Amino acid sequence: MGLFDLLSANRSENLFLPAHGRGNALPKKIKNLLKLRPGIWDLPELFEIGGPLIREGAIAESQKSSAYEVGVDRCWYGVNGATGLLQSALLALARPGQAVLMPRNIHKSCIHACLFGGLVPLLFDVPYLSDRGHASVFDKKWLQSVFKKVKEFEEDIAAVVLVNPTYQGYSADIESLIKEIHSHCLPVLVDEAHGAQLISQVSPDLPKSAISFGADLVVHSLHKSAPGLVQSAVLWSQGDKVDPFNIERSIELLQTSSPSSLLLASCESSIKELIESKGIKKLKSRIEEAKLLKDFLINKKVPLLKTSDPLRIILHTSKFGLSGIEVDKRFIKKRIIGELAEPGTLTFCLGLSSHKRLGKRFVRTWNEILTSSGEQKACFFKRPPFSIVTRPLKPFTYSWGSNFEKVKLQDAIGRISVEMVCPYPPGIPLLIPGEILDEARVEWLIEQKCFWPEQISDFVRVIC
Ligand SMILES: Cc1ncc(COP(=O)(O)O)c(C=O)c1O
Repeated sequence: MGLFDLLSANRSENLFLPAHGRGNALPKKIKNLLKLRPGIWDLPELFEIGGPLIREGAIAESQKSSAYEVGVDRCWYGVNGATGLLQSALLALARPGQAVLMPRNIHKSCIHACLFGGLVPLLFDVPYLSDRGHASVFDKKWLQSVFKKVKEFEEDIAAVVLVNPTYQGYSADIESLIKEIHSHCLPVLVDEAHGAQLISQVSPDLPKSAISFGADLVVHSLHKSAPGLVQSAVLWSQGDKVDPFNIERSIELLQTSSPSSLLLASCESSIKELIESKGIKKLKSRIEEAKLLKDFLINKKVPLLKTSDPLRIILHTSKFGLSGIEVDKRFIKKRIIGELAEPGTLTFCLGLSSHKRLGKRFVRTWNEILTSSGEQKACFFKRPPFSIVTRPLKPFTYSWGSNFEKVKLQDAIGRISVEMVCPYPPGIPLLIPGEILDEARVEWLIEQKCFWPEQISDFVRVIC
């Protein structure tokens, strides 16, 4: 099928992102706009409209109003996803040569920002859930041991980045982590790409956004966790640790000079949905519906894992010795399209549209897969061989500019990578440029290759 046919066909159960579910949950204002004469809304930074960096105009007013409603000092809408705004935020936080402390399950966009910003990524290990192969969240004690270790590196650390919630929806006690980072007089950027809905605070037992605990910068992907169009995002800033001038010049560096007004309108409307009563009511009813669905699945013995995100369903395939990647293919055949297929799980995103008739179809599909696979033992995953804190052996700019050769993974021991090994999704690098491939890492990558056969190559490019 060609692109246009694919874009217009919709016969599947959409359990993937964007969260608006093929338009079902788009805000009314965006739906109405899209019903007008096609293309009438396709405008760049015209005088009355302005743009994210222009002081006057409708977008400036809209950003001011969103920041006020959410209770922060400033915000900037983005048209290149959380990717673009995370990268701008990082460049605003650190100068070339400075280090940024980041968890090992960081999204690849932050590693790329280090590459072009001349920053040193100091990566710290995170707890690991070997029954499913996921990076987990960590607590203040864990972070304190990271800070202790970091001293040995004698780097000039400019900031800390946290990822919360994770792609699968696990959430940490973010308040204590932010406090700990601030006690070291460092600013914190929270990648809350998967947690925009946390600003709605629909229920006291759901996690709160890092914004409410004083995180200096927070980035939301509005198409992942709010009803925004693909590429819509927002960067929130508060406090006096980060100069807005630095943020704006970094956004200017990376943003197109013709940001789409449609996407910017989508930023405005999706944020409004998260803070206005009508949108919050809708979110609440989606969460209630999701709870009923999860209870139904659990009752029918579908193996679901716990997550703090009520709108995500994690199917624990490795509990039955099955790969989430293979199970995903079987679900797709039945036209149930999930979001994140991994070796041990398959994560479905319910998003903000309704899935009332999903339960029985889901159970039927899962039972068919189980029956045809036969009885299999649970499989476990080896913890990644990361030290508590690591820094690439060679600076990014050095490995980027080096001559390289392509060698078989098993022949790469002792060599330095010039490439990132990074299955996507989730977009979490297993190896970054400049890192040394020691024996343990090579062994682990070869094992990972078996789990991600289509995503990890037999070869790796290393410095000559
Ligand atoms: C944790 C995390 N941060 C950032 C991003 C980038 O988001 P976007 O697709 O909006 O650029 C992703 C995308 O998968 C992600 O999982």
